[in-house]
Order: sequence, then structure tokens, then C-alpha cells
Amino acid sequence: MTKLGIIGCGDVAFRSYFPVLEQLGDAQVVACFDTVADRARRAAARFPGAEAYTAYEEFLAHPGLDAVINLTPAPLHAQVTEAALRAGKHVLSEKPIASKVEDAQALIELAREQGLLLLAAPAVMATPRFKWVKRLLASGRIGSPTLAVAQMATMGPASWREYTGDPTVFYSATVGPVVDIGVYALHAVTGLLGPARRVQAMGGIAIPERKVLTGPHAGKKIQVEANDHVLIHLDFGHSRFAQVLASFAVPNSKAPAIELHCTGGTLSLDITRWYEGYGSIDVYLEDGSELGVEGWINGLYPPLPDEGPTFSLIGYGPAHFVRCLAGKEEPILTAEHATHVLEIMNKIGDSIRQGRALDLDTSF
Ligand SMILES: NC(=O)c1ccc[n+]([C@@H]2O[C@H](COP(=O)([O-])OP(=O)(O)OC[C@H]3O[C@@H](n4cnc5c(N)ncnc54)[C@H](O)[C@@H]3O)[C@@H](O)[C@H]2O)c1
Repeated sequence: MTKLGIIGCGDVAFRSYFPVLEQLGDAQVVACFDTVADRARRAAARFPGAEAYTAYEEFLAHPGLDAVINLTPAPLHAQVTEAALRAGKHVLSEKPIASKVEDAQALIELAREQGLLLLAAPAVMATPRFKWVKRLLASGRIGSPTLAVAQMATMGPASWREYTGDPTVFYSATVGPVVDIGVYALHAVTGLLGPARRVQAMGGIAIPERKVLTGPHAGKKIQVEANDHVLIHLDFGHSRFAQVLASFAVPNSKAPAIELHCTGGTLSLDITRWYEGYGSIDVYLEDGSELGVEGWINGLYPPLPDEGPTFSLIGYGPAHFVRCLAGKEEPILTAEHATHVLEIMNKIGDSIRQGRALDLDTSF
């Protein structure tokens, strides 16, 4: 039984992680840490016998603590993860793994030296749906992938009426729509097409000031520092490409979250179902003969997973982490994949500033 600690007991902890952790037989939450005492206390109260902490060193010294889940705000991820690894704890980090590629690579090296598991969200590729898509591609049934078109576009957390945290950080220069939501699409397209070789992007700030609509911070004004419309092109070599829109300035859209075009068919995933881990997918099969036995098969579900309950997309992060620690799954959400996506995200910013395509150096 893995003894788990939670770092950062905010919105995503209560909304998406705790309901999953309560159901996992292989792990027990024994310690919860937040710099805000009330949040740590409320979190610990969810798990029988768990202790609440407001000092990081004391939390890391909790007797028997094996592994931690880092749910702090994005700019803190690398430093919080580094301290946990130095203290000998396995880590699952929320995205992004770090802000700089060198820092992510240093974390990978540290985890390797310490013999520890380091995984990173988002959990897209660990969901039953995307595992099934990988198997479908490997079967050759719809040919080989040539083009992914993806879109992660909303008005951002200031307009998310259910959000309970302070959305300001999401519009800061270090976060923005690429790091917050584009990262899901980037993990999906690289997870399906493999490491990208080149990136080119355009972006700008369409709506410079936001007002928080609801929740504890309602009415607060936010100055937008990050580009809120970002258009991204990726080149995977051998005439394989991806096009991704990441935006916090799109009121709504009916475009699919992702479409993957292959030589013998197309996969399409509705945006309204994006956050389902065990959700359906639409498949178009190309016939290629004069008979024309082709068309859409809508709402295909992957076979039911044999490992117990199904979760949301985010929930498959902690579920996968715990199963890897129990030796029941091989790591999919690797720090190397997250580092490749981090390089893409950082070079998106460089490409916008420099007005040109940039080569990518990392792989996974
Ligand atoms: N909210 C979501 O639905 C969602 C979904 C996917 C990913 N995420 C990611 O999860 C992370 C947290 O997001 P959130 O929405 O829960 O934010 P949040 O602001 O609601 O929660 C963050 C928590 O971290 C605590 N914290 C801040 N500094 C800390 C420190 N140094 N040590 C320990 N705790 C500290 C805060 O007090 C707060 O309780 C972010 O990286 C975000 O991108 C959130």
C-alpha cells in the first residue's frame, strides 16, 4: 500500500484528485500540505488518519510517506518537485513539469539518481480512450496518421463558473492558454504522432483585461500578460503535421477537441467529451475501393478497462501513478514526454517573438 501525500489542496485536489484517491485500493493518503492551514485541514479530513501540514519540511518527514502529488500553482512545480525527490519521494506533478527544459531535465536526472518514479500530468495518454486509439493505430486498421487538428479554446478560468481558485495566475506571462489547456492537445498529438521536430506559432492578446465572473474571487479584475490566442503548427517529419489552437479568448466552439487524419480513416473527438477518461470516439473508415463501403461509426467505446472503476481524464493521472508504483502498469505519463511538450510550449513563445519556425531538440 503506497502512502501518499498531497501538496497543494486547492480546486483540482478537491474536484478531481480526491474522489479518485478515495477509490484506489493500492494507495492511502496519509498527509496533506498547503500553505493555507484551513485547506490542508479540510483535505486531511477527507482521509481517515491523515495529517495536515503547513510546513513543507515537516510534511516531507511524515513517517512512512512514499510518494507525493504536486498540485501547486504552475510556476512552483519544479521547486516543489525537486524538494520532494531530494527527500526520497516518488512524484506525480501537475502540468507543466517545470518552466524551463533544463529544470525538467535536472528533475529527470535527480529522479534517476534517487531511483524514484517521476510522472507528469496531463493524463491524456493514460486514459482507456487514448490507449485504445494507440492500439487501433498499431493495428493498421485505419492506416498511418498524417495530420492532427486540435483545439483547446475557452475564455479561461476567470469565466469558468464552477472554478473555486484565484484565476489570476492562469493569465500571467508564465502560464496562459498554451500551458494551461493547450498542453492537453500537445500531449495528445505527440502521444499519437511521436516527438515533433519543428514548431511555428503566431499569437497575441485579444482581450487584455478579464473580470472573474463567479466564485470566491468574483469581480476581481485581471490584466492578461500571456498571449490569449495562440495558433501552433508542428512538423513531425515525413509529411506528418499537427495544427493546434490554444486560446483563452474563444467564447465557445463546436469544433472537435481533436481530429486525427490517417491514410485509411479519421478519428474525431468531441470537445464536450474531452475530460472523460473512458469516453467514446467517432471513427470514419475509408474504403478505398469502388464499392464505397465507408462512413462514420459514431460513439465507439474502448473495451471496459479491467482495472476497476473508470475516472475522468484528470483522474487517470493519480490512478496511473499509483498503479505504476504497485507494479501493475508501465509508466506512460513519463517526465521525458512532459519535457518534450515543455520544450514545444517554450519554443511556441520564442517562435511568436522571432516570427519563424524553430527546431526541437528533445525526444521521448
Ligand atoms: N482546477 C482544475 O480543474 C485543474 C485541472 C487540471 C490541472 N490543474 C492544475 O493543478 C494545479 C493547481 O490548480 P488549482 O486550480 O487547484 O489551483 P488552486 O489555486 O485552487 O490550488 C493551488 C493550491 O496550492 C496551494 N499552494 C500555493 N503555494 C503553495 C506552496 N508553496 N506549497 C503548498 N501549497 C501551495 C494554494 O494555497 C492552493 O490551495 C495547477 O498547476 C493547474 O494547472 C488544475
